[in-house]
Amino acid sequence: MSRTSPKGSGPVLVVEDLHVAYGRVEAVRGVSFSVDPGSLVTLVGANGAGKSSIINAISGLIRPKSGRVTFDGQDITRTPSHRLVGQGLVQVPEGRQILGTLTIEENLHLGGWHVGGASAAALAETYERFPVLGDRRHLPAGSLSGGEQQMLAIARALVARPKVLLMDEPSMGLAPKVVDEVFRVVDEIRTTGTTIVLVEQNARRALRAADHGYVLQTGEVVHSGPAEELLADPKIVEAYLGVEATQ
Ligand SMILES: Nc1ncnc2c1ncn2[C@@H]1O[C@H](COP(=O)(O)OP(=O)(O)OP(=O)(O)O)[C@@H](O)[C@H]1O
Ligand SMILES: [Mg+2]
Repeated sequence: MSRTSPKGSGPVLVVEDLHVAYGRVEAVRGVSFSVDPGSLVTLVGANGAGKSSIINAISGLIRPKSGRVTFDGQDITRTPSHRLVGQGLVQVPEGRQILGTLTIEENLHLGGWHVGGASAAALAETYERFPVLGDRRHLPAGSLSGGEQQMLAIARALVARPKVLLMDEPSMGLAPKVVDEVFRVVDEIRTTGTTIVLVEQNARRALRAADHGYVLQTGEVVHSGPAEELLADPKIVEAYLGVEATQ
């Protein structure tokens, strides 16, 4: 399914001293992290911590004020997002951004736009993984439930056959059972070898799914480490994960 990275060649994605500002609002203040091929790295933090700003700066949707992003050994700091999709860096945007009046299949075709189209094989794979999308492929995407639209947003990104998948709060606004389904899909994608950067307010769930985690607060990394160590640290659980403690 995924393109694989050269083994033993170091991290596939490196973010160095990233700064993002909106006018005088400094949303990201010197964030650095790296992502090994095949791993799942999560950036967790409260509302407004800077998670989307980081993801959008990596994917080229916004321009960072300073810092450097390297993907597959290439400096991509100023590369526009459509070119990055072609290179294998693909984002599932915050809020899904499904085009509700287009059909499900048309939405999937848009996912393949920058890679020469969604191939028949990619569509068949998608419908096998998400049968509900196959059954309804000729219906408007707006007729899907919130959870199904999130699956479509993920499927649309996968059609471009990402090497690294950037996911911005895929569980946002969904019922607990649907959140379980989203995390199951994330785990499944990961087992196919696709590298994932997952941004979540649902820190506990994200850390359970991740290899490595970074805790963000007001634009800075305040803790980082193997996800299981972060989850096992009572100080971190109390300070950052308390709200999700029962999930
Ligand atoms: N377009 C914008 N213009 C001005 N300020 C912005 C803009 N986008 C984000 N911000 C500000 O930048 C900071 C970081 O926002 P960002 O959206 O990156 O956080 P987040 O961690 O993704 O939050 P959430 O969990 O709510 O999605 C916040 O203070 C936010 O108000
Ligand atoms: Mg966000």
